[in-house]
This record gives sequence, structure tokens and C-alpha cells, in this order.
Amino acid sequence: MQIFATKGDITSCGFVGAIVNAANNSLLGGGGVDSAIHAAAGPQLLKECRALHGCETGKAKITDSYDLWENCKYIIHTVGPIWNGGHCDEEELLYSCYTESLLLAMQHKLYSVAFPSISTGAYHFPLKQAAQIAVKAVHDFDRKYPHTIERVFWVLRDERTHQAYFDAISEIIKPCNIDDIIGFHLPTEPYGFLSNWYPAEFNSVGQHFTSSEQYMMYEKVRQAREFDLAERILQTDDPSEAQKLAGPSSFTTFDSISDFWDKHRKTIVKRGVRAKFAQNPELLRKLLDTGNAVLVECARKDTNWGIGINFCDPAWHDVHRWNGDNLLGVLLMELREEFRHELALWGTVQASDYKESAPNAAWNMFAGQLKRNPVYYTAIQCYADQLKSEDEKNSFYYGGCLYDWEIAMRTNMGGGLPISGFYEMKQEVYEIYRRQSVR
Ligand code: AR6
Repeated sequence: MQIFATKGDITSCGFVGAIVNAANNSLLGGGGVDSAIHAAAGPQLLKECRALHGCETGKAKITDSYDLWENCKYIIHTVGPIWNGGHCDEEELLYSCYTESLLLAMQHKLYSVAFPSISTGAYHFPLKQAAQIAVKAVHDFDRKYPHTIERVFWVLRDERTHQAYFDAISEIIKPCNIDDIIGFHLPTEPYGFLSNWYPAEFNSVGQHFTSSEQYMMYEKVRQAREFDLAERILQTDDPSEAQKLAGPSSFTTFDSISDFWDKHRKTIVKRGVRAKFAQNPELLRKLLDTGNAVLVECARKDTNWGIGINFCDPAWHDVHRWNGDNLLGVLLMELREEFRHELALWGTVQASDYKESAPNAAWNMFAGQLKRNPVYYTAIQCYADQLKSEDEKNSFYYGGCLYDWEIAMRTNMGGGLPISGFYEMKQEVYEIYRRQSVR
């Protein structure tokens, strides 16, 4: 979980799953942040709140966000304790406000929550103490339910309050240090399972692979329709051999696809690496166990997928001194986040619960559904324009979902179906799906 304290108005912070309201027992609005939230969400909020019949101190209830829908999907209303000298369980009750709010967020499968400083306004809870209890409650929640809520923000109106939360965060949560960087290179070295050369069996694009390097080389030559070369790559289990077959001495037509490859290689490779982890639960567990560490491919000769520096050079610890893009590291970090996200959607954090067959909802949407969204519509239109016959067009529009189209397109690639544009479209759909499911 990432935890931040920012200065601002909670009714206009960036998009989060839920914002939390510091309400009173009636839930019918009041002053301070409560009044700002009701004013911004509009009268329907009050209507829903009436039906909730109040809320006990230390507990929380959830409602729609109404006119605040551009900022959050839900509003969580919690009632902080009124400070009474510390003799009426105020600390426990404040701690409980945070825990109960996060539990509601977790039950609604939200990944980000923004809090105000509960109880430190009209309810006069001493600020420093309130900030420490708040940060501790959120930190404890993260340890108890790791990888559920990914981001917590405090959105604080004044400098003094901001400083108090900033101090509490620095005091209670360990800042990042060098241990949060993991380097990898050869498959036999520590964290070698992250390397594309690591032996791992998986199926993708209708073929069986023994390493993600083999998959990558196979896909690369296929983009140039070098099908014989692709077959030869499938015949070898040796990643270095596969690499050689897709290298300049054998793959002489690479120039014809180099622009395409530069643009799409990350998406294409990510797909195979995703299959590698999705189909090998032990590897997925190890990937998830890397926590939030920065993953770095320490390959001296590779300035695209790696950082152009090897382990012997301590410069690999320092991002500013990298000579390469670390595309593989970046892609692995993205996948780690995506796997967590998907697992959390299913209510689990266990790698062994991951089921690749469980489809990404967007993949199963039919063209008719996708077309209602203007971004999908444009992408679909671009692709359909490239299809020749009316029959093809019709079956594309009405006959399938993204997943089916991809299979059909791959089967027909030799028959002249174009592939360029499709990865962009898929990526677009995937990104939109992700953004929507965060809401
Ligand atoms: N965005 C972020 N923080 C805000 C905003 C805003 N728009 N407006 C105020 N704050 P308070 P409490 C800060 O009094 O102490 C209400 O009447 C404010 O500066 O809103 O839990 C309820 O109905 C302060 O730091 O909440 C209850 O009756 C913090 O939010 C009672 O007040 C909390 O101040 C709850 O009192």
C-alpha cells in the first residue's frame, strides 16, 4: 500500500474509489468537511443518508457519490469521536473509524481511498495524536489485508494538519531503501525466475513454449511472416538458440517490421510473460512476493529490455545512472500490479487462486457493447476497415468478442489478415477496463 498526505480540498482530489466523510451520528450533514461533501454531491446524497438511519461513533456506512462521480465511486461516512479529554475511548473509536472505512472499501473492491483528518475540526481531537492513530490504523490494516487497498491519501486543508500527517507517516512507515530494488539477470542467479531465459512451460498464441525468450523470438519473426523460422524457434528449448534464430544472421527481413516491433514489442512480450506467470503458480507467488520492489534487469548489453549495466557495477542501484530503459523490469512490475488487481477482484491474494481462464471482462464484451464507448468504437472501426469482405466484416462486428477475434486473426494471419493496430486496440481496451474497475 502507498500512503500519502496531500494538501487540498477532498471534494476535488483526483479520482479515488471512495472519499471518506467526517460525519456526525445523524448522517444528515453538518459543518466542515461534511458540509463540503454534501454540497458537492448534491441533494440525492442527503436522501440516501436519510434511509441509513444514522451511524454509531467509530462505525462507517457507504453511499453512492452522486454529483461527485468524477472524483470517486463511493462516499464512506464515518463518525469520529468528540474529544473529551481522552477518557471516553476516543483513541479506540478514532482507530475504528479508519478500520471500518477501509473494511467497507475492501468489501466494495476499491483500491484507493481518500480521508480527511477525522475528528480534528469541530470534534477537537488533538491533532498530533489523531494523525498518529490514523496512520497506525491504516498501516495495521495493510498488514492484516495486504494488497487489497493499494493507495490511501489524506487530503488536508491546512498546512498544520498536512505537516502532522506527513510527520506521522514518516515516523510510522519505513521509508523506501535500497532493499526495495531487486536486480536480476541470469536464470541461475537469485531472482533468475524473472529472466526471460528462465525455463518455464506455458501455452500462448496456440503454441507451447519452454521459456518466455522462446515466445518472444517466435512472435518477433512471425510479425514478419517468417513462418519457417518461427517453426524452427519452436523446435528448440534453448533460449540462446532461439535468440540466434531471430538474430541478424537468420532473420534478414527484420528491417521490414522494425518500426512495428519498436512500437508493439512491450505489449507482445508482456502477453507471453503474463502467460508464463499465470500458468506457473509458484512463479507467480514469487513475483507477488517481490512486494513493491523496483525490478531491474541488470544486463550490460541490453539497453532496451535491461539497464545496460551488470551486477558488478554498483551503478545498477542508482536509477539516474542507468543506460537502458529496463523494459522487462517495467513490464514485470506492471504485471505484478495487474495480477494483484485481478486477484483482489476475486477477493483473494493467493497466487494459487489465480485462474488464467477467468477472462478479463473486457475480452468477453461483444463488439456491440464495446462500440458504445467512443474510444473502442474508433479502434474497432480502424480494424474493421482493414477487413476485405463483407462477410468478414459482419462476423467481426457481430460474431465475437475480442478474445475470439484475436484467435481468428492469428489463425488467418497467413491468409493476409493484418495484425498492426490490433495490439493498440487491445491495450486500449485493457487500460479502459482497468480504469473502470478501479472506480
Ligand atoms: N477538504 C478537506 N478537509 C476539510 C474540508 C475539505 N473540503 N473541509 C474541512 N476540512 P470537521 P470533525 C478539514 O470539523 O472534527 C461536522 O459538522 C478541517 O479543516 O469537518 O470530524 C460533522 O457533521 C479539519 O482538519 O470534522 C460533525 O458534526 C478536518 O477536515 C463534525 O463536524 C475535520 O474537521 C465532525 O467533526
